Amino acid sequence: MKRLYGVIGSPIAHSMSPLIHNDAFLQNGMDAHYHAFHVEPDQLETAVAGMRALGVTGFNVTIPHKEAIIPLLDSVEDASLQIGAVNTVVNKDGKLIGYNTDGRGFVEALKEVVELKGKQVLIIGAGGAARAIFYTLALEEGIQLDICNRTVSKSEDLIKEFSLERIARSITVDQAAKEIQNYDVVVQTTSVGMFPQINDTPLQLVSVKNNAVFSDIIYNPIETKLLREAKALGAVTQNGVHMFAYQAALAFKIWTGKFPDTDRMKKIVEEHLGGKTC
Ligand code: ATR
Repeated sequence: MKRLYGVIGSPIAHSMSPLIHNDAFLQNGMDAHYHAFHVEPDQLETAVAGMRALGVTGFNVTIPHKEAIIPLLDSVEDASLQIGAVNTVVNKDGKLIGYNTDGRGFVEALKEVVELKGKQVLIIGAGGAARAIFYTLALEEGIQLDICNRTVSKSEDLIKEFSLERIARSITVDQAAKEIQNYDVVVQTTSVGMFPQINDTPLQLVSVKNNAVFSDIIYNPIETKLLREAKALGAVTQNGVHMFAYQAALAFKIWTGKFPDTDRMKKIVEEHLGGKTC
């Protein structure tokens, strides 16, 4: 019987997850289908019960349900509990188990362009996306992490909550802009610069370190103003398509045991967005 997979969220109509997962099922010769389900917060509990009742094999969870779904699951992987968000659920013999592939997906994508050991990293932002990325980056050997956020108390709280004072510090956005030459890697996790506010940038950029890597989790537009400026100053840049593909690939692996072709996933997303991946 065809296995069923999906994603729940709101809004969900423009999700590119069905495109890449259905293609990966086809590529791997699997008789399965992935569908996007629009679920409002007041229907989350019913939707999860429906997933159980219908025997859906696995599903992704996106905005605004990543935190709220946790108490509705049978168990949640420890790292996802620490992050406080689940984006992937697998149905194992009727038990729903939650995972978070966002942080790992980001880090795997970043490692395609930079070796992280001993690097000085700046994270811009301290919201939900930053939490998963900060938690996962902190597991890398010898890494030093600075976080700057418009609301400084949020980056301070994040460092305290994860007890990462030894390797991380909170700084202001102005300080980060002044000291930008110190960073090997700059990670942009806020929504600043996302469509339609494409002329916004979270940080005034005047220079970059030699061989610096700038990674922005935004993929619409395909190249944010921050990435465009960083590239013009000589940085290597990576847009959000890479993280998107890797978080999906890791979810696919959890469900099927197979790691799909991430380059193919990126190409599908890139073609759909009508631009070239950077
Ligand atoms: P997400 O789950 O996508 O990370 P979020 O939890 O709402 O969303 O976090 C959004 C992030 O973008 C935060 O770091 C937020 O900064 P604040 O904590 O100060 O709100 C940042 N952000 C959003 N709009 C911003 C803006 N106009 N200028 C600067 N930072 C902004």
